[in-house]
Amino acid sequence: MAAGERIPGTPRYRHHLLKNPGTEPFLPNFLLKEWIAGSVFLLGFILWVVFNPMDVGPKANPDDTSFIPVPDWYFYFLYQILKYFPGNYEVFGTVVLPLVGALLLLFAPWLDVSKARHPYKRPLATASMVLVTFLCIWLTNEAAVQHRAEVAAEQGGGVSAGLPVLPKVPASQIHLVDTTMPGYEIFSHTCAGCHGASGEGGFGPPVYAIGKYWNEQQLYDFVIKGMGQMPPRGGLSSDAEVRKVVEWLAKQKG
Ligand code: HEC
Repeated sequence: MAAGERIPGTPRYRHHLLKNPGTEPFLPNFLLKEWIAGSVFLLGFILWVVFNPMDVGPKANPDDTSFIPVPDWYFYFLYQILKYFPGNYEVFGTVVLPLVGALLLLFAPWLDVSKARHPYKRPLATASMVLVTFLCIWLTNEAAVQHRAEVAAEQGGGVSAGLPVLPKVPASQIHLVDTTMPGYEIFSHTCAGCHGASGEGGFGPPVYAIGKYWNEQQLYDFVIKGMGQMPPRGGLSSDAEVRKVVEWLAKQKG
């Protein structure tokens, strides 16, 4: 049958099937399928984002010299690559490597022309994908671990012991809750001297949102024992008072 010839009574999209058995037309079949899959994904994504609103974190503070800027986590792998190309070689990390990667991806349809779809039948393509995926995960993790260590080193205190490290924020931005509890009173006269009146930190690390990381029992166990420069019971004389203070502290979640 000549190209373009209509088969009477056959809709246009069926037409193609009769002419080229085993294939499907790009429009509308393929595109429609892609759009439906895309819409389902988008809808799920929108719902997820709406019900898990992003935490914007503490307000930017130009006076805070201990702040270590990093990109969002999904750019960590690119950020981490930069660290392996110091000085004059920086251009490899910033331009050359990402560009080569982007170009390879762009030209993939011409580079990977195999008709086979099974991963085993396309060893080069499969191996590249596995390798790149592995590299991205590894680089992301490496960046996260190093960033955490840098922040910890900057803030001192609980670092060595692997304690949670809260970001430093000005006391004016902290909203303590349940300040009518007896624990707050005890905190104010015993712990605030080292941890700040709003728990913003001072000689000791910030504790204004420590309840995000530790529950009451974990706080109790820590405070009873003390650590390094932090005296056992935080300087309090009775375990009952410690119990009251951690009961209040555990409610501080920033
Ligand atoms: C003499 C100063 C001092 C006093 C008083 C003090 N702390 Fe501490 N606190 C510290 C120091 C220093 C650290 C860090 C310890 C380390 O990493 O070696 C710390 C760590 C902590 C931590 C862990 C914080 C984190 O994010 O790692 C908590 C929780 C805590 N203190 C609670 C208390 C409570 C509750 C009181 C009062 C009952 C108290 N502290 C009294 C100095 C003090």
